[in-house]
Amino acid sequence: MEVKKITFQIHGDDRGQLIALEEFKEVPFDIKRVYYMYDTGEGVRRGFHAHKCLEQILICIHGSCKILLDNGTEKEIVPLDKPYEGLYVSNDMWREMYDFSPDAVLMVLASELYDEADYIRDYDAFLEYVNKHA
Ligand code: TYD
Repeated sequence: MEVKKITFQIHGDDRGQLIALEEFKEVPFDIKRVYYMYDTGEGVRRGFHAHKCLEQILICIHGSCKILLDNGTEKEIVPLDKPYEGLYVSNDMWREMYDFSPDAVLMVLASELYDEADYIRDYDAFLEYVNKHA
């Protein structure tokens, strides 16, 4: 499976580091929504879904976590621990997030507003979806 990681340009100087993200530049879609997870409990695993349309970029802007990506055929575990690195996750990818460090902040840039109807939360339904759209 091809894992699409994007390394963002760091605008650093003697004051520190700054990352700027703009739609259709660093981020390959229209950014309609931003959300982030923090204070994630030890041992918590979340996600467990794919999407019909939504594209996302995941950035662990502080601390570390792991992302399991599953395209229905292959699985890949992607560690995220750099604020200047984004993981592109396409709609048709089952994802789970886990191994959050206590200080982890996982920020997500999303191509659509929140829409529960876009979620595929059942793993068998996901396999059916990817096979139908292959
Ligand atoms: P949930 O889908 O359980 O998160 P995850 O997939 O990471 O396990 O979302 C938790 C709650 O937050 C749920 O009540 C829906 C709400 N939520 C929003 O209101 N807007 C959003 O953009 C997201 C991602 C979640």
